[in-house]
Amino acid sequence: MPQSTGAIGLDYLRETRYSRENLRAEPLVQYPRSPLYKTYPPETQRLPLPSVPKSLQKNFWECVKERRSQRDYVEQPISQEELAGLLWASQGITAVQHNFAFRAAPSAGALYPVETYVAVHRVEEIPPGIWHFQVQQFALELVTPGDFRRSLVLAGLNQQFLGTAAVVFIWTGLLGRSLWKYRQRAVRYLFMDAGHICGNLQLAATALGLGCCPVAAFFDAEVEAIVHADPKEEVAVYLAAVGKLTGSR
Ligand SMILES: Cc1cc2nc3c(=O)[nH]c(=O)nc-3n(C[C@H](O)[C@H](O)[C@H](O)COP(=O)(O)O)c2cc1C
Repeated sequence: MPQSTGAIGLDYLRETRYSRENLRAEPLVQYPRSPLYKTYPPETQRLPLPSVPKSLQKNFWECVKERRSQRDYVEQPISQEELAGLLWASQGITAVQHNFAFRAAPSAGALYPVETYVAVHRVEEIPPGIWHFQVQQFALELVTPGDFRRSLVLAGLNQQFLGTAAVVFIWTGLLGRSLWKYRQRAVRYLFMDAGHICGNLQLAATALGLGCCPVAAFFDAEVEAIVHADPKEEVAVYLAAVGKLTGSR
């Protein structure tokens, strides 16, 4: 193990480097493997998601050019179809091959350690609350009903647009899905996965004429409490607010 630099982040990066020597070495720690999908009890309220919107407002090049982090949302709700499109583009299953269900965004080893929740503030015909995205069924599962605008603003260091958004995506990481394979290096990959997911979300939001802003400034424990994260292994990773803009259809 290299000598400590006294800086935890730098130590982590140094200690998780692959080299020709250490890649061949036997792992020192065996980690238990967590299931690929988080499950809720059968009595949980479920809401199947509709098909994604058929037509988009912009082509791909326009989406790349016009993607900006937008924070000024109007009061208008987004539709269920728009929410379905955002969930599908960020974490939906897009192909099943050799027993692997591949998703819209890449993931190291196809282990998908990032879990998706949405705080619904204003989505047509979906009651406000914290919903878990059930990837396999393309459905939402109700974690806690209610108005989470204030809790999210407070958890997000007072960033008001977390309350004025129509929906806030909340991504957590379940490291038990990937530690067994990548050991401590899995932590690097978790954040890369989250970046890909949020990148897809922002481009999809742009294509739908919606505003979207990534958020990494938040009180971790407060976000984890909002989604009832599993205290054994689940950590808050990233948020993104989405809402209609002036002139959105
Ligand atoms: C990892 C990450 C964390 C971010 N966190 C926040 C945040 O907490 N609050 C915020 O208003 N914007 C946040 N942003 C948005 C950036 O401010 C924005 O991407 C940057 O200013 C560049 O502008 P653009 O996205 O419009 O190109 C974040 C972006 C990234 C990639």
